[in-house]
Amino acid sequence: MLILGIESSCDETGVALVRSDGQALPTLLSHALYSQVAMHVAYGGVVPELASRDHIRRVIPLAREVMAEAQRTLQDVDVVAYTRGPGLAGALLVGAGVACALGAALNKPVLGVHHLEGHLLSPFLSEDPPEFPFVALLVSGGHTQLMRVDGVGRYELLGETIDDAAGEAFDKSAKLMGLGYPGGPALSKLAEQGDPAAFKLPRPLLHSGNLDFSFAGLKTAVMTQAKKLGGDLEVRKADLAASTEAAIVEVLLKKSLTALRETGLKRLVVAGGVGANRHLREQLNAACKRQSVRVHYPELHLCTDNGAMIAMAAAMRLQSGEGGMAQAQPRYSFDV
Ligand code: KG4
Ligand code: ZN
Repeated sequence: MLILGIESSCDETGVALVRSDGQALPTLLSHALYSQVAMHVAYGGVVPELASRDHIRRVIPLAREVMAEAQRTLQDVDVVAYTRGPGLAGALLVGAGVACALGAALNKPVLGVHHLEGHLLSPFLSEDPPEFPFVALLVSGGHTQLMRVDGVGRYELLGETIDDAAGEAFDKSAKLMGLGYPGGPALSKLAEQGDPAAFKLPRPLLHSGNLDFSFAGLKTAVMTQAKKLGGDLEVRKADLAASTEAAIVEVLLKKSLTALRETGLKRLVVAGGVGANRHLREQLNAACKRQSVRVHYPELHLCTDNGAMIAMAAAMRLQSGEGGMAQAQPRYSFDV
């Protein structure tokens, strides 16, 4: 079975083709990604209307590229999957519209995939895929969650952010420091030259006794510190970046370890854009090694949004018996 996946929830258009034999883990045949970063950079963030229009321009050429690379045609596709949400409504509608149109034209089923489930299952595309059950740390631009994952569709939320997401904390702090958009990777790069102990920043909810997160206060603390530095900000920027990164990473690390302890599980999956953060990976790897916990990540280039994770999540859902393949009826949904 061939599953075409389309991702268009924010500022990346992603299309991918995955093959599933119904038994072994599905395999990625080809994928293509177009990042709109260069277009939004002038505005300091994603402009939703521009994002939607650009998805329209990119999605069909990307689908052609993916089919050509896999030496298949669209007629070979058995299921069309797309990101159902969450995300920017207009951007999501482009992927949903194209997927449903393809489904109608090919007379094939169409499956809406939850964007976070895509991230969550993306490590199954790596060379070292995890096994169930595991604790998942989902850290993206819009979400920060800890989950117990017992199988496909068997997810128990252990804790989540009560305000900003970890990626948002990176992005907003980066913006305050004038590092532009996208802020996370820029802040992380600058942090490599700084001293993580230079500034004392809060570790919100670190001792809250539960697995929830809060990053809004950290952003305010970074703002206060930046104001205090005034003209000196320029020369202390790397130190402030390193201190900010250290604060975010410490909270993510400690809460993940608590989740592992509380569930008794010995496997951690880290997914979502912030999972690309080098410092976070180093800290998690070291701590988990000490506790004989295995850590799994998606391939670095599949940490941020992409079509492969959507095709993969759809394939795994179908393999697990969900998604209506038995009926094999076209199914359309604009539920974003
Ligand atoms: O998963 P993703 O591509 O999109 C959402 O679903 O939100 O995550 C994007 C987020 C952004 O906040 C971005 O700044 C952050 O991931 N990010 C990083 C790094 N790479 C991406 N944050 C810290 N360090 C990185 N290397
Ligand atoms: Zn995402």
